[in-house]
Amino acid sequence: MKPLGRLRLGVNIDHVATVRNARGSAWPDPLRAALLAEAAGADGITAHLREDRRHIRDADIEALVAGISIPLNFECAATAEMQSIALRHRPHAVCLVPEKREERTTEGGLDVAGDIDRLTDYIAPLREAGCRVSMFIGHDPRQIEASARIGAAVVELHTGHYSELLADGLESAAAEELEGLRRGARLAHSLGLEVHAGHGLTYDNVAPVAAFAEVMELNIGHFLIGESIYRGLGPAIEEMRRRMDAAREGL
Ligand code: PXP
Repeated sequence: MKPLGRLRLGVNIDHVATVRNARGSAWPDPLRAALLAEAAGADGITAHLREDRRHIRDADIEALVAGISIPLNFECAATAEMQSIALRHRPHAVCLVPEKREERTTEGGLDVAGDIDRLTDYIAPLREAGCRVSMFIGHDPRQIEASARIGAAVVELHTGHYSELLADGLESAAAEELEGLRRGARLAHSLGLEVHAGHGLTYDNVAPVAAFAEVMELNIGHFLIGESIYRGLGPAIEEMRRRMDAAREGL
């Protein structure tokens, strides 16, 4: 299958806020990073407002909504508080993720299949408000089918397990996980869902995921913010873009 279009890069700026919050100061400013990302060719900005506000804060979301010209992907847990914040700002996209206070980052995918009725009701007003609702899930077919059933527009496939296996040198397990992601992308596309992917992606592991013809968007944060210490944010993003495009060439 030919790629469905140019692969979009969403830059997650959460960890600019992590560094700022480490000192309780006003810098580095996530909005400034978002504007740099935009100038470097990012197609969207992702920000995760966690329940504990450990990185992005409410004022950051307000500043991003007012300040950026590219789409905002508002990531949040499926709580009443986050729904009302999303409805107030009406971001381009709302990505629902599972959230546990004690976790360091989003560890697993959302259990859509186990929460169908509640999530159907939860996303209805977001859809009515014009937000593209995305489910952050593993590649389990049950979760993909459930996401289609509740009326989500998008699934974002969790690449965290794949990237961890590769980082641990477990090549054949990583290849198996990648195969699962590939099958998941195909299934999701066949059900009419737009397919995104993200979590743990780096220069070294991005190519096989970028080469999935069904995937329309990658969301990448931690690695890019880290890499920007050495290269600057613009060049770090441009190099990721180059690798994504190279992986897509010749498909
Ligand atoms: N997509 C989702 C849904 C996420 O929760 C995260 C992490 O906040 C990312 C993508 C980006 O992951 P990373 O920071 O590891 O690139």
